[in-house]
Amino acid sequence: MSKKAIAVLTSGGDAPGMNAAVRAVTRSAIASGMRVIGVRRGYNGLLNGDVIDMNLRSVSDIIHRGGTTLFTARSPEFNSPEGVKKAGETCRQLGVDGVVVIGGDGSFRGARDLTNEGIPCVGIPGTIDNDIACSEYTVGFDTAMNTAMEMVDRIRDTAQSHDRCSVVEVMGRRCGDIALETGIAVGATAILVPEVPFDLQKDVIDRMMTSQLTGKKHYIVIVAEGVGGVDAIAKEIQAKTGIESRATVLGHVQRGGSPTVRDRVVASEMGDKAVQLLLQGIGNRVVAMKNGKIVDYDITEALDMKRVFRKDLYDVAIKISI
Ligand code: F6P
Repeated sequence: MSKKAIAVLTSGGDAPGMNAAVRAVTRSAIASGMRVIGVRRGYNGLLNGDVIDMNLRSVSDIIHRGGTTLFTARSPEFNSPEGVKKAGETCRQLGVDGVVVIGGDGSFRGARDLTNEGIPCVGIPGTIDNDIACSEYTVGFDTAMNTAMEMVDRIRDTAQSHDRCSVVEVMGRRCGDIALETGIAVGATAILVPEVPFDLQKDVIDRMMTSQLTGKKHYIVIVAEGVGGVDAIAKEIQAKTGIESRATVLGHVQRGGSPTVRDRVVASEMGDKAVQLLLQGIGNRVVAMKNGKIVDYDITEALDMKRVFRKDLYDVAIKISI
């Protein structure tokens, strides 16, 4: 009888720690006597047979590397009934008994569809945005925040030298988590996130003027990508306060770089968990973190969950950053 086989792919935007997850999936599956197939460029690899056999050494020297050695893609072709059917066909031809999909919500929808096509799939949350409702944590979030913090620390040096205000946009799509935690870590005077409505005059400009009265001379304002408009915000701040202001969009620097300890460890634990589920023939699951523990959910239920923004933490940030 031929060995059970699982496939592993990374999909959507890359995130630091994806390689650590691929490594864990590969090694854990091999340890359980399974064959492992690496699928390249996300679901596209299942559409055009871009796959490689993985062995223990295929994942050597990647735990510390950012990006994804399996490459990634967003695949419009896969997002159609014909695409899913074709991907299922490829899996059957390759003798794949299950697929581990490392990515975000969009990738999990694909995993659900492929499971419905008869190929059990398990998702691992891999995105810098921390925007997956079922999980407290997504692989890549910690590294992205540490990178953003380091970049803003540098911006602060020059803002301080010039008595300026720096308005910095961080990534996160529609989620304000990177902005919130980076904002706290850099001691931002204001943090603007899509989850909390704000008034530029009251929540930013008035706060700046109040802290100016206590001797503060430079300011950092962190703006989530989901709010955007940093150029206009910087212009308005300068016009209304007379404080020279500059806008910076950090951009893709946040997506790269060597993953932090947290991302490597969480990715490793989640990778192993995904394999254990597939070994038992359990598919249509998302691996997640709840109360610091690794758990799993039905994909459909997970996709229906609503994210809860840490308003309590936001309130602390605003209280102490004056
Ligand atoms: O989901 C990760 C992310 O970096 C978001 O924060 C951002 O909105 C988006 O991807 C950028 O996508 P792209 O790399 O396609 O420009």
